[in-house]
Amino acid sequence: MVQIKALILSGGKGTRLRPITFTSAKQLVPVANKPILFYGLEAVREAGIVDVGIVVGDTADEVRKAVGSGEQFGLKVDYIPQEAPLGLAHAVKIAKDYMRDEPFVMYLGDNLLKNGIRSFVSEFADGKCDAQILLARVPNPSEFGVAEIEEGRVVGLEEKPKKPKSDYALVGVYMFTNSIFEAVEQIKPSWRNELEITDAIQYLIDKGFVVNSHIVEGWWKDTGKLEDILDANHMILAELTARLDSEPGKGSEIHGNVQTGKKVNIEGSVLRGPCIIGDGASIIDSYIGPFTSIGPNTQVIRSEVENSIILEECTIKDIGSRIGNSLIGRNVTVAKTVRPPKSYEFMVGDNSNIIIL
Ligand code: DAU
Repeated sequence: MVQIKALILSGGKGTRLRPITFTSAKQLVPVANKPILFYGLEAVREAGIVDVGIVVGDTADEVRKAVGSGEQFGLKVDYIPQEAPLGLAHAVKIAKDYMRDEPFVMYLGDNLLKNGIRSFVSEFADGKCDAQILLARVPNPSEFGVAEIEEGRVVGLEEKPKKPKSDYALVGVYMFTNSIFEAVEQIKPSWRNELEITDAIQYLIDKGFVVNSHIVEGWWKDTGKLEDILDANHMILAELTARLDSEPGKGSEIHGNVQTGKKVNIEGSVLRGPCIIGDGASIIDSYIGPFTSIGPNTQVIRSEVENSIILEECTIKDIGSRIGNSLIGRNVTVAKTVRPPKSYEFMVGDNSNIIIL
């Protein structure tokens, strides 16, 4: 079997997740208290790949700090700086030297696949095609690259078409041989001024290269938007196994699959799984409902939260109604006013979204 490398894309701007991603990489937003990017790194390792090039942009320092040499994942990681997010095919272009003409898997750092990629990679390693793409049926194909299929074969690909020719979206995991380097040299930037990988794969099809496709079974998520992140959180937590590294204190109840980290303080509270509570968090006289991830060192006091992600170092205090369907960034305070005059008081970043009762 040939040695296959991976190219993981962790550059880009992440504008659709602002303000959470103003200062931080969208691929590092945690789902079930683990950065999205880590799921991709684990999937790549599980497929037997060791050498990984990570494409990084403005948030390079943060990505390097989180992933380091890759040792914690059993990987050997190199970083490939991209001067600007000029497109997925541009990322392939700048990875040419790193790949040394060997076959590789390209994995978009904001994608999550339930069943991993092992079976696809091992089939690709047999060397019977020039490229392999993955497809999944979606209700909103115009938000993705879309495949046109005739008699079971992909005959065309279009990036975010207004009138999609099918509801098969391109999943953000691609397998390429060195033919892709010829393709990325030939294509021109798209209407959004990016070198599109869809155009590069279309080039391969047009030139008679063998491009195989597979349908992804099990769920797949591109976590580009808030509702997708909450969906991903829901899906990962649905498979959570119970594990209490800290036992609940007096007057507390735990139901269903709940994970608590180290040094978690739970008093007078009800935790209804699936939910996960990070190291050092405090849950006092509160209710944590299903599909909720509470980050490390966050405090929830006399409040109720469900179907939400709250990142680290937050304080949620004395909220009279339940918080739901929310993504709350790092070091945020949401609290009830303690003194008159009674008013809403906000310090909220650009592009935030607040819904009140
Ligand atoms: O998730 C699947 C979709 O991903 C496909 O259906 C589309 O065909 C494909 O173009 C891509 O679309 P997106 O618009 O979702 O791609 P996005 O710009 O979000 O970039 C995907 C990842 O790659 C993200 O983690 C950022 C990173 N990236 C992106 C660009 C454009 C880079 O590292 N460098 C770049 O130049």
